[in-house]
Amino acid sequence: MAVCSLLTPILVSSQQTTNDTVLRECHNACSRLSTTFGKYLYLPSSDDNFRIWDAKQQEVRPACRIEPGNATDVARILEILVSEQCHFAVKGVGHSRSPGDSNAIQGVTIVLDRLTDVQISEDGTCAEVGGGATSAQTYAALEPRNLSFVGGRVGQVGVGGFTLGGGTYPFANKYGWALDNVYEYQGVLANSSIVTASEDMNPDLYFALRGGANNFGIVTRLTVRTFPQGQIYVSQATWSDNQPEAVLDAVYRLYTETDDVEMGYDLYFVYDAEPVFEALNRILTLTRDTVNATFANLTGAPAELDTTRHLFDTLSILPSRQLLSQGIQIFREEVSAIKPVAGLAPNFICYPLPTHAIEFMERREGNALGIDQDEPLFRKCTVSVLRNVVNETSTVILISTAWSNASDDTAVMTMTNNVVERTRSAAQRAGVAHPYLYLNYAAAGRAEKVFEGYGQTNVGRLGGIQAAVDPRGVFTANGLWRGFMNLW
Ligand SMILES: Cc1cc2nc3c(=O)[nH]c(=O)nc-3n(C[C@H](O)[C@H](O)[C@H](O)COP(=O)(O)OP(=O)(O)OC[C@H]3O[C@@H](n4cnc5c(N)ncnc54)[C@H](O)[C@@H]3O)c2cc1C
Ligand SMILES: *[C@@H]1O[C@H](CO)[C@@H](O)[C@H](O)[C@H]1NC(C)=O
Ligand SMILES: *[C@@H]1O[C@H](CO)[C@@H](O)[C@H](O)[C@H]1NC(C)=O
Ligand SMILES: *[C@@H]1O[C@H](CO)[C@@H](O)[C@H](O)[C@H]1NC(C)=O
Ligand SMILES: *[C@@H]1O[C@H](CO)[C@@H](O)[C@H](O)[C@H]1NC(C)=O
Ligand SMILES: *[C@@H]1O[C@H](CO)[C@@H](O)[C@H](O)[C@H]1NC(C)=O
Ligand SMILES: *[C@@H]1O[C@H](CO)[C@@H](O)[C@H](O)[C@H]1NC(C)=O
Ligand SMILES: *[C@@H]1O[C@H](CO)[C@@H](O)[C@H](O)[C@H]1NC(C)=O
Repeated sequence: MAVCSLLTPILVSSQQTTNDTVLRECHNACSRLSTTFGKYLYLPSSDDNFRIWDAKQQEVRPACRIEPGNATDVARILEILVSEQCHFAVKGVGHSRSPGDSNAIQGVTIVLDRLTDVQISEDGTCAEVGGGATSAQTYAALEPRNLSFVGGRVGQVGVGGFTLGGGTYPFANKYGWALDNVYEYQGVLANSSIVTASEDMNPDLYFALRGGANNFGIVTRLTVRTFPQGQIYVSQATWSDNQPEAVLDAVYRLYTETDDVEMGYDLYFVYDAEPVFEALNRILTLTRDTVNATFANLTGAPAELDTTRHLFDTLSILPSRQLLSQGIQIFREEVSAIKPVAGLAPNFICYPLPTHAIEFMERREGNALGIDQDEPLFRKCTVSVLRNVVNETSTVILISTAWSNASDDTAVMTMTNNVVERTRSAAQRAGVAHPYLYLNYAAAGRAEKVFEGYGQTNVGRLGGIQAAVDPRGVFTANGLWRGFMNLW
């Protein structure tokens, strides 16, 4: 293949185009894609039905949007984009939050919505899931056989993006994170070759896809572990803010004293703009909803996309009861400072990173996150930092905020950044900071820190693998696949 044998690095202008002019390269690419793919090519002028979760991504105007139907289509699309040097984004299910993450700014948006097939093995131990499937579609396909898999808490989260970045899960203490439950990936490399990566085939690429996100290939199919699952018992309790210390005590006991792999728990500290709870302050538990349900039940009916603006950012801490209080106090102060923001809905969420989930990260030669390998280890630190408590659980903290108005973007970004930096400083002073940043929750601009958190050894190895599978740097920030979390 002449295009690939040249090995000249792809270096397109790193200057952002600020006007509405579509680059000539992408204009040409869209024409060629239109000739090849016909009705699966959409121009923005006739694409009113395209919906993506975040308003900032919805506002992006791509040159065109293309919907491949299989891996061969994806390979053909990449061939055209590379030969025209037109930049692109890949939309799995589109839950990223920054313009360009999964909708290309004046480039080509490759939408994986047609790759949603779920095929279950006869013995029920695994399933092949399309790279564009939602969590809800996958749960719904598995449940008639009383099976489940490690998917998202919200049905519309894409199995692809979720799994490539990590995939936290309520029952992680029993099954691990999503990336440790993939037996095989099928994907398309930068030179349009279709490859399979597993522990036995292309093991380096398999390692890289376990946490390496959007840097190695467009994943068209994942073979995931499935397991028998009946109904689950879900209880959601809400407390007013006059009892936070008592509630945190109870939550922290769950974090530290329980090693029950059949149980999962998340803590949400939510700011509610309406002071409706004030009269109820004497009551400890405001509401408690309990259902017996399945994941398909819980994720089945997707809410209409009333497209609004969102920002996520994250940090990780070693177990510390004191830091939970401090973090929530910092969050309260910073949110109060921006209260007039229209439609403001900020959350301080704690997802436990349980001990057994870390053990799963070592399976099948390990993943790229570095949590199980590099110092300081979550596990070793948990044992040495706090005395008299065994099986403490580290925590991934997510600051997740929704709001309505573009004029408030800066205020929300400042609030979020302040919460993260102040909580990190408090954690450092208390000796409970950890460098790991969960890629799927990190804000735009944190890619370097995210990969630093994977540890030098793993980043070095990822860089080597990328150079081997993509020598021209097509899937890098200076190449054609920009946005989201670029390794280089
Ligand atoms: C409401 C909500 C709930 C969430 N719940 C959870 C949760 O329970 N646990 C958790 O861990 N995370 C959760 N997340 C975070 C989620 O994992 C990430 O946002 C994830 O990136 C979403 O993937 P996606 O395919 O929907 O998004 P996209 O924006 O389509 O994809 C994210 C990135 O991955 C790339 N990508 C997607 N699919 C592929 C593919 N097949 N091949 C190559 N690259 C691909 C995209 O190009 C993009 O760069 C949640 C997010 C939201 C908004
Ligand atoms: C992929 O889809 C194209 C049509 O878009 C079709 O021509 C081709 O045969 C398909 N390839 C495979 C391997 O299914
Ligand atoms: C699934 O479980 C239910 C309840 O235990 C049972 O009635 C049903 O037969 C099971 N279905 C299959 C396909 O095994
Ligand atoms: C802590 O974990 C070990 C190993 O998993 C287990 O044997 C022990 O029972 C646990 N202790 C508590 C208090 O849960
Ligand atoms: C859920 O199922 C359990 C076990 O079958 C039962 O004891 C409990 O009452 C059920 N709860 C609800 C809310 O249906
Ligand atoms: C879950 O789905 C099943 C099957 O569709 C249904 O019978 C059941 O009532 C649902 N349960 C809940 C709590 O929605
Ligand atoms: C958005 O902000 C602008 C400028 O502050 C203001 O004029 C407008 O009314 C706001 N819109 C909404 C829906 O709050
Ligand atoms: C594509 O790249 C892979 C990884 O570097 C390589 O093994 C393969 O030979 C290349 N294929 C072609 C057709 O050049």
